[in-house]
Amino acid sequence: MTYTSSWRSPSNIALIKYWGKHGLQLPRNPSLSFTLSACYTNMTMGVELYAGNPGIDIFYDGQPKPTFEPKIKTFFSLLGDFFPWLKGSLVRIDSHNTFPHGAGIASSASAMSAMALCLMDINDQINSHATFPGEIWWKQVSEIARLGSGSASRSVFPGAAIWGALDTIDESSDQYAIPWNEHLSPVYKDFQDTILIVSTSEKSVSSTAGHNLMNGHAYAASRYAVARNNMHRLCDVMQRDDLIDQFISIVESEALQLHALMMCGESPFMLMEPGTVAIIKEVWRYRKATQIPVCFTLDAGPNVHLLYPSSYKENVLDWVNANLIQYCAEGKYIMDQVGSGPKKIKL
Ligand code: DP6
Repeated sequence: MTYTSSWRSPSNIALIKYWGKHGLQLPRNPSLSFTLSACYTNMTMGVELYAGNPGIDIFYDGQPKPTFEPKIKTFFSLLGDFFPWLKGSLVRIDSHNTFPHGAGIASSASAMSAMALCLMDINDQINSHATFPGEIWWKQVSEIARLGSGSASRSVFPGAAIWGALDTIDESSDQYAIPWNEHLSPVYKDFQDTILIVSTSEKSVSSTAGHNLMNGHAYAASRYAVARNNMHRLCDVMQRDDLIDQFISIVESEALQLHALMMCGESPFMLMEPGTVAIIKEVWRYRKATQIPVCFTLDAGPNVHLLYPSSYKENVLDWVNANLIQYCAEGKYIMDQVGSGPKKIKL
């Protein structure tokens, strides 16, 4: 018997960063992200149940991609309790991203969440019991996605999501993310994210290796305490329209802390490029000169995400084209914004 499923799942950009993990993909601190819209993975999965030749065939943009196999094999090895049929079956995965792989845009978040969605959907088909699209179904997808990549747990919800237990947020959990869109004040519901591609080359240090460097890091305990405090503050700030200055200072501090942690560990490394720093300084100059509330955040890579209310889209675009494009690889940037979450694709 063969089953298929196709899903489109978005990337997300963390405002409070997940950096440091323990046990089976459990976060050291809670994190909060915007779900994106234009940056996504389209994935089709085919499962030949209990095939004579079980295994995984992976294709990216129509070409075989065996280099993705180890991460996916590790992921599948954790899923025996959820999907007992997985072990004896042949799984074919075809995917395509709308953004460059490994360039600091969380491709693992969109890819692993798409994979979790396809697996859950196929599991429903196999067992002829669809819990989709209830709340429990989405929680389970998020938990499965987390096992593939921590940040992927947050990609399954529209608008914004929180992953990690926080005493003031009901239902928050280290096991899965929870939706947080309904708490956002209107200005954040269509916040813009213009992603300046400073470099498209592969990351020199993977996120997983980076997380590992937090074990034994001299500033680990204080970082987790600060992250927790920033979560409390940002959750309050984002429920109101009039505290955008505080939003900016928390978000920029989080981005720079992430990179500062990389630079002051026992095996220091640096993912920022000269263009990254030049853009950050230009953001500060422009904001001061115009009072336009645009700020930056960074992922584990050199690219810069410009975050701002949609009402300033034209101003920011003019400024990007005039002043910032010089720092972008081949002049590339991506216009993205807060998005509506994953979509099932009809085959
Ligand atoms: C800097 O989710 O990619 O983007 O769980 O090892 O797959 P793994 O790590 P990953 O780490 C993301 C780190 C980050 C911050 C964030 O998205 O919260």
